[in-house]
Amino acid sequence: MTVTALTTMVGSGLVVMGVAVYGTGTGVSARQAQSVWDGVYTAEQAQRGEPLYQQSCAECHGPDLSGGEMSPGLVGGEFVWNWNGLSVGDLFERLRVSMPQGEPGSVSRQEKADILAFLLEANDFPAGDTELANRTGRLAGITFLAQQP
Ligand code: HEC
Repeated sequence: MTVTALTTMVGSGLVVMGVAVYGTGTGVSARQAQSVWDGVYTAEQAQRGEPLYQQSCAECHGPDLSGGEMSPGLVGGEFVWNWNGLSVGDLFERLRVSMPQGEPGSVSRQEKADILAFLLEANDFPAGDTELANRTGRLAGITFLAQQP
């Protein structure tokens, strides 16, 4: 199977298949080819994430994600450029180990994936057909790009 065929498959949402092929060692570039511009969460997932965000994050980061006295904003230029070139896995890992600040264990892994979907939506990255996974390893192949390539 060619890399181009793989990329097409991953791009068309057959992520499970792409990951399966990854095991053969040829899928690396297909995984790297995916970015936050490829519809990596669903609108429904972001909708689930919003009330979770309001409940566990808004107190510090603001109900509109614009940040608070001590906490950075999670929407707009400064935020997206902070993460530019890193992976969605890195961002997920950041939430997983350190947020909500002081009690990261109070929000489950799945809830954090849903909140992350909401953050992506708030930053105008497009929704797609596949939910954002709740495993760092699965998210490591999605590059966070501030600007549409
Ligand atoms: C008690 C206040 C507080 C709560 C609640 C909280 N955060 Fe934070 N958050 C902070 C502070 C302060 C920072 C910056 C200092 C640091 O990095 O720890 C931060 C940093 C971040 C960053 C990194 C921002 C960047 O530009 O790199 C992200 C992403 C984030 N928080 C997401 C969340 C999410 C999602 C939640 C809810 C699950 C949450 N936070 C809950 C205080 C909070």
